[in-house]
Amino acid sequence: MRTIIEPFRIKVVEPIRMTTRDERECFVASADYNLFGLHSDDVLIDLLTDSGTSAMSAAQQAALIGGDESYAGSPSFFRFEAAVKSLFPFKHILPTHQGRAAEAILFSVLGGSHRQVPSNTHFDTTRANIEATGAEAVDLVIEEGHDPDNLHPFKGNMDTAKLERFLANAGDAVPCVMMTVTNNAGGGQPVSLANIRETAALAHKYGKPFIIDGCRFAENAYFIKLREPGQEGRHVEAIVRDMFAVADGMTMSAKKDAFANIGGWLALNDDHLAQSVRERLILTEGFPTYGGLAGRDLDAIAQGLKEIVDEDYLAYRIRTASYIAERLEKLGVPTVKPSGGHAIFINAKKFLPHIPPLEYPGQALAVAMYIEGGIRSCEIGTVMFGRHPDGSEHPAPMELVRMALPRRVYTQSHADYIVEVFETIAKNKDKLTGMRITWEPERMRHFSAKFEPI
Ligand code: F0G
Repeated sequence: MRTIIEPFRIKVVEPIRMTTRDERECFVASADYNLFGLHSDDVLIDLLTDSGTSAMSAAQQAALIGGDESYAGSPSFFRFEAAVKSLFPFKHILPTHQGRAAEAILFSVLGGSHRQVPSNTHFDTTRANIEATGAEAVDLVIEEGHDPDNLHPFKGNMDTAKLERFLANAGDAVPCVMMTVTNNAGGGQPVSLANIRETAALAHKYGKPFIIDGCRFAENAYFIKLREPGQEGRHVEAIVRDMFAVADGMTMSAKKDAFANIGGWLALNDDHLAQSVRERLILTEGFPTYGGLAGRDLDAIAQGLKEIVDEDYLAYRIRTASYIAERLEKLGVPTVKPSGGHAIFINAKKFLPHIPPLEYPGQALAVAMYIEGGIRSCEIGTVMFGRHPDGSEHPAPMELVRMALPRRVYTQSHADYIVEVFETIAKNKDKLTGMRITWEPERMRHFSAKFEPI
């Protein structure tokens, strides 16, 4: 098979400022070994997130100029609404400034103490928005989803047997059933169309609305096309419509699969619920035809949604992740398998068994990747999840380092460079030491904690 090339040419470039290893050692020390504290122009390859970091197309840049900044009734809104409805035919589309705003608004109405919201795996902001209302966020992903080496093709699937038991027991406490596609917190793993349908049917059997967190809907649909029997001949757009046809609503961060730098939406079919959340939207985001966004942002999203379902783009996208993961595996760097869509997750526990979880092997690896090659990634392990509300600290179930791939930003030589950096790290991995935390805030410590090497 020939190389799957980047299906675009580059018309506008952004220089990367080269740095030396010595400089990076100083930069990371002055950031207290927390990669969120770096200045991004001191980073060579920024894989901190795939959120809001996409490259816009020429057509999106052109659409920005056409943005109409009217407070109410802007044509930009109607173009946005039409583009959203062409893929996700929900009745009410409410723009928000990003995904978490859609979640906050939804759960300000559906949440509350003693409520329980099941999902395959809630993303952190979804969980936080549910918990902020006093409700409980419950994860019911299939067992295979917890095993980094299991090759199940849809490790993001909901455990429908567990969901059924949960719905039968929890009764009125459940305001809705959620599903994250792809399952970011679970390694970017997809959910099958059959599982989406089964989950929807269960939700409806118990009279609950079924809401999809659709951030990476196009990547999920492409995995369905690649991996689900009977779906291979279908166009991704048709699969997307099928995924959402059984849902009653969606939350969305347009910073992911809409190629936008900012934006999101909440979509709903229920008139009564839509009216309640619209009132909330006006309070916290803005008038319902802009929802915290500029008209130009709405136009960028409208155009981005047309581009994201392009199968040449999706083939390149998914291949980039699997290409890097396969080459890392050959070097003996273990990754979460199969590789997901938006990121490669390195299993730091397995790679650095000499560093105990409470010395943060993921953080140690992320810092080494920055010093060795200027690559910025994100620890998803005990630093992120280890501190509990009662103040105690426990190892997280997995010690991962996420390399998230911004969309259309890096080329194959960047991917090759990443692998080369790992060649050096893998050779010297036994010399890597753990980290200790010298200061941490009360909540969400991974963003601002200070570290030092042990
Ligand atoms: N849901 C999922 C599955 C996400 O991955 C994110 C964001 C959100 C909701 C919230 O959207 O950032 O627009 O408010 N994920 C980013 C990440 C931050 O790096 O994975 P937002």
